[in-house]
Amino acid sequence: MNHKVDWPQVAFQITLENMNRSYSPYSNFQVGSYLLTEEGVGFFGCNIENASYGATICAERVAIYKSISEGYTNFKSILIVADTIEPTPPCALCLQVMAEFCPPDFPIILANLESIVCEHRFKDLLTHPFGPSYLKEKGPHSE
Ligand code: THU
Repeated sequence: MNHKVDWPQVAFQITLENMNRSYSPYSNFQVGSYLLTEEGVGFFGCNIENASYGATICAERVAIYKSISEGYTNFKSILIVADTIEPTPPCALCLQVMAEFCPPDFPIILANLESIVCEHRFKDLLTHPFGPSYLKEKGPHSE
């Protein structure tokens, strides 16, 4: 479902309300995320675990993939909510996915169940992202 939202307090409320959709029977660690697109459309995501643990997907990637599959590929900001005192940052896999679609100054807003706690820029959480330029670059051992 898409929502037009006033960022970020409304997104925080929507995320809290939907976090129980998290399928996390193995970790019992619920994560909710809300991605705001440049068009002002928002996408909620929650973590979805699997008995084959590696098939688990984080809340952030669910929100990002939902957005892309609905045709929204320009992202303005993302909110991440988890029940921790120190707010939960995105994992390295999610940061790598963000590297594909998000600008260096992309705001990553972290919250616990009480409130929004802090905001980071993407470039500060993943300082040296791997990106498509490396695929094109020819090294000294290339033909
Ligand atoms: N998880 C997320 O959904 N996002 C994060 O930023 C960190 C970790 C999930 C994955 C797994 O379902 C559970 O939290 C425990 O790692």
